[in-house]
Amino acid sequence: MESPSEAVRWAREQAPIFFSPKLNYWVVTRYQTIKDIFRDNHTFSPSIALESYAPPSAEVTAILKSYGYALNRTMVNEDEPVHMARRRVLMAPFTPEHLENDIPMVRRLVTEAVDAFIDAGQVDLFKALCWDVPFTVALHFLGIDNDEDRERMHEFCVAHTKTQFGRPTEEERIEVAHQVGKFWQLSGQILDKMRRTPDGPGWMRYSIRQQKDHPEAVTDSYLQSMMPAIIVAAHESTSFATANAIRLLLEHRDAWDDLCEDPALISPAVEECLRHNGPIGCWRRRATRDVEIEGVQVPAESKILMVVHSANHDERHFGDPDFFDIRRDNTIEHLSFGFGAHQCLGKNIGRMEMQVILGELTRRLPHLRLMPQKYEYLLNAAFRGPQNLWVQWDPAQNPERRDPSIVTRYQEIRLGGPLASAVVRKLKVDSADPVAPGIVRIRLSSPKNETLPHWTPGSHIDVECGDTGLSRQYSLCSDLDHPDQWEIAVLHDPQSRGGSRWIHRYARPGAILRIRGPRNHFRMEKKGGGRLLLIAGGIGITPIMAMAQAAQAKGLDYALHYSCHTRTQAAFLAELQRRHGDRLHLHVSDEGTRCDLAQLLARPDPATRIYACGPQRLLDVLEHTVEQVGWTADALHVEHFANGNPKLDPAHEKAFEIELPGAGLVLQVPADKTVLEVLHANNVDVQSDCEEGLCGTCEVGVLAGEIDHRDSVLNPRERKVGDRMMACCSRARSGRLTLDL
Ligand code: HEM
Ligand code: FES
Repeated sequence: MESPSEAVRWAREQAPIFFSPKLNYWVVTRYQTIKDIFRDNHTFSPSIALESYAPPSAEVTAILKSYGYALNRTMVNEDEPVHMARRRVLMAPFTPEHLENDIPMVRRLVTEAVDAFIDAGQVDLFKALCWDVPFTVALHFLGIDNDEDRERMHEFCVAHTKTQFGRPTEEERIEVAHQVGKFWQLSGQILDKMRRTPDGPGWMRYSIRQQKDHPEAVTDSYLQSMMPAIIVAAHESTSFATANAIRLLLEHRDAWDDLCEDPALISPAVEECLRHNGPIGCWRRRATRDVEIEGVQVPAESKILMVVHSANHDERHFGDPDFFDIRRDNTIEHLSFGFGAHQCLGKNIGRMEMQVILGELTRRLPHLRLMPQKYEYLLNAAFRGPQNLWVQWDPAQNPERRDPSIVTRYQEIRLGGPLASAVVRKLKVDSADPVAPGIVRIRLSSPKNETLPHWTPGSHIDVECGDTGLSRQYSLCSDLDHPDQWEIAVLHDPQSRGGSRWIHRYARPGAILRIRGPRNHFRMEKKGGGRLLLIAGGIGITPIMAMAQAAQAKGLDYALHYSCHTRTQAAFLAELQRRHGDRLHLHVSDEGTRCDLAQLLARPDPATRIYACGPQRLLDVLEHTVEQVGWTADALHVEHFANGNPKLDPAHEKAFEIELPGAGLVLQVPADKTVLEVLHANNVDVQSDCEEGLCGTCEVGVLAGEIDHRDSVLNPRERKVGDRMMACCSRARSGRLTLDL
C-alpha cells in the first residue's frame, strides 16, 4: 500500500509481465504496456474490473441473495458496443461547461469543513476533510439528498472496497455481505424516489431522463447497479487522492511553500500528486483472445492486473520518476484515471475538488505540518490512500487572524488538465553579461537554492516579460557538464514587439524572472552513429552549440556551420573555436564567406541528420534545398521561434469533424473553435502552452484525413507525412480527421 511501484520495481526491470499463481492473474508493470492494454478494450475487456478476487462462498452468496443483491454491469465494467452507447448519452454533466456550476458548492463545503477545525491546532485531516467532503460532493453530483443514511453509505463504501478489491476472511465476508445487501436495498429505494421526481437535480436523475430516449443504452439493471458503484467510484478515489496529495506535499516542504506563494501551481501540482502518489494501485482487464504481451503468450480468458502505480513510476516514460516535481512537463500523461474509452468520466470533478481543498489549506493554513504517525490502510488492490492524516499548526499564526479577507480569497480553478502556461518557476538572474553587440548571456538559478531539473540539448524556456503580457522563448545554452545550470542568450531585436527590449532592460543581476519549461521540441535523435550537420544563423547558435557539445561528448562525427554578418556579431565565437577546432565552419557575410547551402547539401546522405536554427529566411532556404535535392523526410530538424501563420478567422474557416477512436467519440469542430478547444470542452486531455502553433506542446497523432497545417513546429516533410498535427491551430482540409486519441 505504501508504494506498489517499489514493490514491483524488480518486475518492471526484469519481468514486465509475469503470472502470479497466488493471485491467478498476469501482472503487468510498465507504462507503455499498461497504456496499450487500456487503449484496446476489445482485446482487453474491463468486465472483471469490479469482480471479487476470490469467488464468494455459498453462505455469502445466500446472504446477498436474501437482500435481492444483483450487481451487474455498470459503465466501468461494460463491454462495447453497449458501453460507448451508454457513456455517450450520459457524459454531458461531466464536461467543464457543466462542472463550472459546481465550484461554489465545493468551495462552500471545504470552507465549512476547515472552519470547524481552524482554531484547533491539530486534526486528523483524513477524517475532518478528505473523507467527508468528496463524499458530500459525490452525493450532490448524483442528486442524493443529504438527509439519506450517510453512515450506512460510508460503511458500504468500505465494505464494497474490501470485498471487491481486497482479501477478506470468510467471517469478514459474511459481515460485509450484510452491509452490501443493506446498501443495495437502500440504493434501490433512493432510485425509486428519484424516479418519482425525475426533473430534480443530479446525474442519476439525468440518467433516468435519458432512459426515456435511450432505453436500450440506459437499462433498469444498469441504473440499479450504477447507484452503489458510482458512490464508491466518486468518493473513495477522490478521498484517497486528496489525502495522498496533502501528505506528499507536506513531505516536500519546498513544493508546499511554492503552492502557498503561487496558487496557479496548484493545478499542475494536483496532476503530479496523482502521478507520484496516486490513489489507484492496480486495475484489471480480461484477455478476450490469445494475445502476446511483452513477448509472452497470454491465453484467452486470462485475467490481467495492471499495476497503475508502477506505470506512473516507469522511468521509460517519466524521467527521474521517483523525483516529485510539480513542474514536470509530461505529468498529465499519468494513468491514474485509466486511459482510452473507459478513462475516468469524473476526472475533472476529482481534479476540481483536489484543487479547492489544496487552495483552502495553502491559503488558510500555510504553516501546516505533518505529525509523526503510522499510516493505516484499507487493504485492497485498487484504492490506495491512508486512513489517517494527522497534522498540526499554531492557530496564533493563522493568517486570517491578521487579515480575515484571506478566507474568501479563492484561487482560480482549472477545469481539466493543467495548463502548461501555469507551470511557472521564479528564478533569479545571477549574471547578465554582454557576449556580442546587442546580445546578453543570462545565467539563472533558484533563489532558494533548489536543484533545477536537468535539460537536454534543444530545450527552451519561456521567459515572461513582466506585466507586458509578452513571453519569449529562448534555447538553453549553458555548459552541458552542468545541466542544472541554466543560461540563455538574448538578442535585442529592434524589430521586436518589446520582449527582448524588456529582457535587456530588466533582467539584471538579482532580478527575479518568471520562467516556464524547459521543454524540448527540438530533440536530437537518440539513435547513435551517423553524421550530424549542425547549422546556425546568428542567435540561432544557442540550441546548436548545446547539440555540438553533446555530439562531441558522445564522440559523434559532426560539423558545425555558423553564419553571421560580421565576425564581431558572432556570439560565443572564441568558446566555440576552443571547443570544436576545425569542426567549426564560420561563415561571415561581410568577409564574403557566406554559407553555400546548395553546395553543403548537394549530396543527400541517409546517415546524416541536419539540425538548424536561425532566421526564418535561412530556414526557408534550407527546407527548400533539402526537398529539392532529395534528402529523406526525416533528415532535417529545425527550431522556429515565430509563427507567421495568421490567427483563426471564423469568417474564412470551415467546420469539420474529428474522430477519436480511443475515446469512441466523433466531435464537431465549428468554424470559430480550434481542435484543442473542442477537445478540452469534451474532457479530452491534451496539454497546451503557446496556443499559437509555436511550441509543439499540443501535438496529437493523426491516423486519417488531410491536415491543414498552421503551425511552425513541423517541417515540410513532416507535414507531408501527415501523421501528426498541432491541435491549437491546425485544421482539416477534408471533412474529417481521425486522431490518435
Ligand atoms: C481523483 C479521483 C478519481 C480517480 C483517480 C479515478 C479513477 C478512475 C479509474 C482508474 C477508472 C477506470 C478507468 C478505466 O477502466 O480505464 C475510473 C472510471 C470511472 N470513474 Fe473515476 N476516478 C476519480 C474520480 C471520479 C469521480 C469524482 C467520479 C464521478 C463523480 C468518477 C466516475 C467514474 C466513472 C463513471 C467511471 C467509468 C467510466 C467508463 O467506464 O466509461 N470518478 N475512474
Ligand atoms: S500549444 Fe504550442 S503549438 Fe499548440
